[in-house]
Amino acid sequence: MSRALVTGATGFLGSRLARRLAAEGWEVHAVARPSSDAGPLGPAAGSVVLHRPAETPEAFDAVLAAARPDVVFHLAACFVAEHSPQDAARLADSNLRWPLLLLDAMARAGVRRLVNASTAWVRLGAGRDEPASLYAATKRAFGELLRFYASAHGLSAVTLELTDTYGPGDPRRKLFTLLREAAARGERLAMSPGEQRLDPVFVDDAVEAFLAAQRRAAGLPDGRLESFCVAGGRPRTLREVVEAWRGSGGRALEVSWGARPYRAREVMAPPDGPTLPGWSPRVGLEEGIRLMEGARP
Ligand SMILES: NC(=O)c1ccc[n+]([C@@H]2O[C@H](COP(=O)([O-])OP(=O)(O)OC[C@H]3O[C@@H](n4cnc5c(N)ncnc54)[C@H](OP(=O)(O)O)[C@@H]3O)[C@@H](O)[C@H]2O)c1
Repeated sequence: MSRALVTGATGFLGSRLARRLAAEGWEVHAVARPSSDAGPLGPAAGSVVLHRPAETPEAFDAVLAAARPDVVFHLAACFVAEHSPQDAARLADSNLRWPLLLLDAMARAGVRRLVNASTAWVRLGAGRDEPASLYAATKRAFGELLRFYASAHGLSAVTLELTDTYGPGDPRRKLFTLLREAAARGERLAMSPGEQRLDPVFVDDAVEAFLAAQRRAAGLPDGRLESFCVAGGRPRTLREVVEAWRGSGGRALEVSWGARPYRAREVMAPPDGPTLPGWSPRVGLEEGIRLMEGARP
């Protein structure tokens, strides 16, 4: 039996990944905050060993000693699209300080394989290499930490730069939630001009990408870092994505396009970097929306 340690297992993607690994016969350990709600793991919570370490090296050493993972899937993160002054410390804490405790404990325990969730926003695109947001900047900074542990401790990691994900049971206040809420209230939704091109990936496809990344990480020599894009495979404008959502089940929703400005650092096109070998998305947007909305009560 293979053994995995998952961070972010109480989140949207991590809970599905942990459930999928458990269903495939992995011994799954999850490392979470003392305050984390295990609810999203659902019935699979019984087959996932949940650790809630204090934020000390000793506590993380104890997690690694108990889990003895072949691979760590690192999905825990704090996301904010545009940060407020209060968000800066939370971003640094969740996306750098907390996972650094884990990376350092991995080095002491000799755990050398990591699959890392990052974001397509690490580059603004259109020739601009800078991160699109402070959130994305912390994700890039975590990449520098990986470079140190790869060089000094032989860590090998496959990083996935994910575009937006969506799917059934998504609690996050992202695009489809906002559309659904506005439609339910019969409100006209104020949006940007809507010409930014998105390429959302269905949650099951994202989970498959993490599994493909794990297989790849397992075959890497020590000290190797790789990054790949994970996207839905068919970029469309925000207007087209909203149209696809409206078209699914004939949903009534009025949108005022251009009533809001673009974000100051809007990513206008999906990433065009290398895609993850051995993986391709299976669920197109229309089918994904049907699966997502059909699963709602
Ligand atoms: N979903 C997307 O569209 C998307 C797109 C690009 C990249 N990603 C990346 O994919 C990963 C998973 O995303 P998601 O959407 O599933 O996230 P999510 O639903 O917001 O879940 C975040 C997870 O991270 C945990 N976490 C946050 N701060 C933590 C801390 N300080 N210590 C320990 N755990 C902490 C949360 O635990 P609590 O339960 O305690 O809050 C939760 O389990 C993230 O790394 C994200 O950056 C996601």
